[in-house]
Amino acid sequence: MRTIRQSTHELLICADAAELAREAARRFAELAEAFTNDAGRFTVALSGGSTPKAMFQILADKAFADALPWRSIYFFWGDERCVPPDHADSNYRMAYEALLSRVPIPRENIFRIPAEDEDHKRAAANYSENLRTFFDTERPSLDLVFLGMGADGHTASLFPGTTALCPSDRIAVANYVDKFQSWRITLTADTINRARNIIFLVAGADKAPALKEVIEGPRNPEQYPSQLIKPSHGALLWMVDEAAAKL
Ligand code: 6PG
Repeated sequence: MRTIRQSTHELLICADAAELAREAARRFAELAEAFTNDAGRFTVALSGGSTPKAMFQILADKAFADALPWRSIYFFWGDERCVPPDHADSNYRMAYEALLSRVPIPRENIFRIPAEDEDHKRAAANYSENLRTFFDTERPSLDLVFLGMGADGHTASLFPGTTALCPSDRIAVANYVDKFQSWRITLTADTINRARNIIFLVAGADKAPALKEVIEGPRNPEQYPSQLIKPSHGALLWMVDEAAAKL
């Protein structure tokens, strides 16, 4: 494992996806501990994807499950597919099955995106309202946002060329994604950038070209939306495996 520190972010390169998931679980536990000690609670937004799933499974193992202050951890999501919560594509369902159903988290600590609402804009507005109420501000700052990145450079459900990329003062928006011919609900880049910690989890050789463009290429967020992620005051950590980092 090696770390490269830059002025805008830190890049941690792990041997493979398994090491990446273990290290991500360790960082989650460290932050949960620190925030609950200092502030009495820890707020985190989860993402979909294969690497987070592996991390969730590690967190549900006895060593973490017994040690973490679950009652003080509050779960949100960075994005959701517009399906019911028991659908195979649901990010909530994935997190629930891999982690939330296996550790003692009070039901009221779980703030899923109500993406089954056929009125997608209303779903985004309701989710925004839930965050506004919980954080008691128009501009919530999560303690940690986990993000994945697709081989096309998307993150959360901020896909290339979609309307959700436009600067917005909304907390979350509905976003039509042409390539899937379906809707997603996503936090805006503005909301993600207010987080105190942002961690990208990126594994696999298919991500290497986009990772290089996002980190080292010219600014082009229309094509590589992950470039929109620049925390306004928090820390940005890219956790990647050797395969994704190969370029
Ligand atoms: C989703 C996501 C999405 C995901 C990336 C990376 O709902 O699909 O939240 O942004 O994180 O597509 O996914 P993988 O880690 O599985 O490649």
